Order: sequence, then C-alpha cells, then structure tokens
Amino acid sequence: MGVGERFSLRGQSALVTGGGSGIGACLAAALAEAGANVALADRDLDKAQQVARQLEKQGVATLAIEVDVTQADQVQRMVDQVLDAWGQLDVAVNSAGVATRARAEELEEDDWDQVVGIDLKGIYLSTRAEGRAMLARGSGSIINIASMSGQIVNRPQLHSHYNAAKAGVIQYSRSCAAEWAARGIRVNCISPGHTVTPMTEFAIPIMGDEWVSNTPMGRVGTPEDLQGAVLYLASAASAYVTGHDLVVDGGYTLW
Ligand SMILES: NC(=O)c1ccc[n+]([C@@H]2O[C@H](COP(=O)([O-])OP(=O)(O)OC[C@H]3O[C@@H](n4cnc5c(N)ncnc54)[C@H](O)[C@@H]3O)[C@@H](O)[C@H]2O)c1
Repeated sequence: MGVGERFSLRGQSALVTGGGSGIGACLAAALAEAGANVALADRDLDKAQQVARQLEKQGVATLAIEVDVTQADQVQRMVDQVLDAWGQLDVAVNSAGVATRARAEELEEDDWDQVVGIDLKGIYLSTRAEGRAMLARGSGSIINIASMSGQIVNRPQLHSHYNAAKAGVIQYSRSCAAEWAARGIRVNCISPGHTVTPMTEFAIPIMGDEWVSNTPMGRVGTPEDLQGAVLYLASAASAYVTGHDLVVDGGYTLW
C-alpha cells in the first residue's frame, strides 16, 4: 500500500467527543474527508446535529449523540450506539473539554472538580469504553486531545487545575498505550497550542497579543492546523506509533 493510501479511513467508523464545536468538529470533518463514518458526541446535541448534517454532505454516514462524558453509563451508551449503527469502532477522538481560570490559592473545589471531572475523568471514561470495544476486535486507534498545558505552565492565564488535568491525560494515555499495544490498540495524544475556537475566542482580545509574541511562528493556531495530526494518528500511516503526544503549537513550547 502506498503511503498516500495509508492515510485513508474509507469504510471505517469514528467517534468524536466534543464533536459539536471547535477542535472536535474540525477533526471530525478531517475524518469524514478521509472516508470514515463519524459519530459526533457532545453534551450539546443541537450542535452535534448541526455538525453531523454538514459532514453528511461529504457522502459519509453520521450519528449525533448526546453525552455527558463525566457519566459512565452515558459514555457506555455512546459507544454502544456506534456499535449498533456500524458494528465496530475503529477511531475515537476525545475532544470534549472545558477550561476555567483562577489563581492557585483561590481555586475553588467545585472548579477543580468540574475541570478535572470533564478533562481527565471524561477522558478515562471515554477511553475505557472505546478501548473495550476495540479490544474485542483487536484493532483501533484512540486520540486524546490534551494540551501544551500538560507539558508547560501556560501563561498569562492561570489554571493549575487545567494544567494538572492535561498532564494527567498525557500520562494516562501513555499507560493505556503500553497496556494495549500488543492487543492491537494504539493510544496517542494531540496537544494543541493556543487555537482559536469558542473556548478561546473571548481571550483573544485580552491575551492574543501576548500569545502571539510568545509563539515562534508568530500566530495563534486554527483547528485546521490539527487536521493533519489527527489523520496521521487515526490511520495506518502511524501504525508503529503509540503513547505519543503530538504537540501542534507553532513552536510555543520551545521558548
Ligand atoms: N482551543 C484551544 O486553544 C485549546 C488548546 C489546547 C487544548 N484544547 C483542548 O481541545 C479540546 C476542545 O476544545 P475547543 O477549543 O474545541 O473547545 P470548544 O468549547 O469549542 O469545544 C468543546 C466541546 O466539548 C463539549 N463538552 C464540554 N463538556 C462536555 C461534557 N461533560 N460532555 C460532553 N461534551 C462536553 C462542549 O459542549 C463543546 O462542544 C478540549 O479538550 C480543550 O481542552 C483547546
């Protein structure tokens, strides 16, 4: 098989949590363009349905699923719906996430629980359910959306809880990768730098200049900047890659 062909996902079935917005929606579009049927799972069902309708124009099948990734029973139902529809799960991208800001000495317990609950526990529940479905067939690729904040203390925004959750995502993903490698399942992360989405739009006028001046490439990222990374990690193009954290940050973490 030629290398171009190894990037194809034709006939495969994919699931994207947080698929209703921002990075998740854009990565779902990349998977659809590569030929996969794509399930969009989000706690905002309307947004997931809108993205699903868009992707159908690319000639693939879609599903829109309402899920709160902090709830184990809902996460299991999400995976079961994909299996019921398409019989298998080949690719899972876990992008559902939130970010809040607070000084470490003022961080409220509720805030910690919310962010760590969605950004870390949500990844665990999703990866576990997706992994079980993939292990049953002996193949699959899971891509968890971490952040460069899992490797560095990002600035000027203060969010120790977010940084801790994202560092946890990277190490949790490496652990699953090691456990499941011999059973045909690959688990990798993508760590975006500052990327313009509904999550960060509010911050661009306040912090955008500082973000850009701290980025060697001199600009913030777009969700499209991440599409090549997800196709690589989802497909046979990365068949010998697992436990990797692919940082896509315009060089931000170099300085
Ligand atoms: N935008 C950035 O600069 C940036 C940088 C690094 C990492 N990330 C990560 O990328 C991921 C996607 O972020 P984004 O920028 O696209 O944000 P976004 O707000 O545009 O999208 C996040 C999606 O997750 C969904 N979601 C939130 N909580 C959920 C829950 N409990 N259950 C199910 N769905 C839930 C939201 O409804 C939304 O559709 C997040 O994990 C985020 O931490 C973003």
